[in-house]
Amino acid sequence: MKVQSLRAKIAINKQVAAHAYKMTLMAPAIAKKAAPGQFVMVRVTDACLLLLRRPFGIHSVKGSNVDILYGLAGVGTKLLSQKKPGGYLDLLGPLGKGFDWRSGALVRQSPVLIAGGIGVAPLVFLAEKLKKLKPVVLLGAKTKSHILCEKEFKALGCDVKVATDDGSKGYKGFVSELLISVIASLPSVARNDVLSLYACGPRSMLKATAAIAKQYNISAQVSLEEHMACGIGACLGCVVKVKSKKEKGKSFEHKRVCKDGPVFDAKEIVWVPRPEPPNAKIRRRGTRDEFSAKNILLENSEG
Ligand code: FES
Repeated sequence: MKVQSLRAKIAINKQVAAHAYKMTLMAPAIAKKAAPGQFVMVRVTDACLLLLRRPFGIHSVKGSNVDILYGLAGVGTKLLSQKKPGGYLDLLGPLGKGFDWRSGALVRQSPVLIAGGIGVAPLVFLAEKLKKLKPVVLLGAKTKSHILCEKEFKALGCDVKVATDDGSKGYKGFVSELLISVIASLPSVARNDVLSLYACGPRSMLKATAAIAKQYNISAQVSLEEHMACGIGACLGCVVKVKSKKEKGKSFEHKRVCKDGPVFDAKEIVWVPRPEPPNAKIRRRGTRDEFSAKNILLENSEG
């Protein structure tokens, strides 16, 4: 599929929670081709130190408009939050391989969508496509005020359940624990014939989802988040280990999250711990004014 590079006009950029914003971009060429789970790379500024684009999952498509939902996570997203309607942004997209939701080995009749924090962003687009199947949506967040998109899912007819770390709303604990209770409530014969899991969120949540899917023999797709520089498969900065199907005697191979993913069959992923970036300690200590170019570029790949 041809990737569109274009300048998109900002129609709306509004705060939807203390920690999150939603931006609507007028991008007909991307809207026409976008699929749930794909993403766009956005250049947040033309300032020289922040030239790299940042990845954002496509949150929703309405006509010729594309929405992104983003959390405030660094310098780049802070800059993005300050953009005004009427301004323009450079976009690349739609990128990556999204969720398999129409047919295929991983698709069943009862979808369960599992979101952790801002990982909810691409799942609204998926729920729009799956609404006839009345998906169950499990939203995990730190506190009640961190829950996003509950209304949108309910408006689509989804059965929404919430888990918060502090118990301020819904189940107190991890969303993966809530997932176990949903699965356990079904007769065992129905589980692997009926359920398909679709998850997006922190790596620990995705790993737990993969383990639960394996335990109950349920199909699951996970959308991975990795630091991305190019977003188009050129720099190899986003590779993850997956179980090797190709080479005999080799237990794993590397795949690019931006090109081969971000969505993968949960069974494929080799869940190795991610090494801490070498200058992470420096970055944690630094004040805003102390940022070196290196630190800003590191933020660039995170925010
Ligand atoms: Fe460059 Fe994936 S971000 S290869």
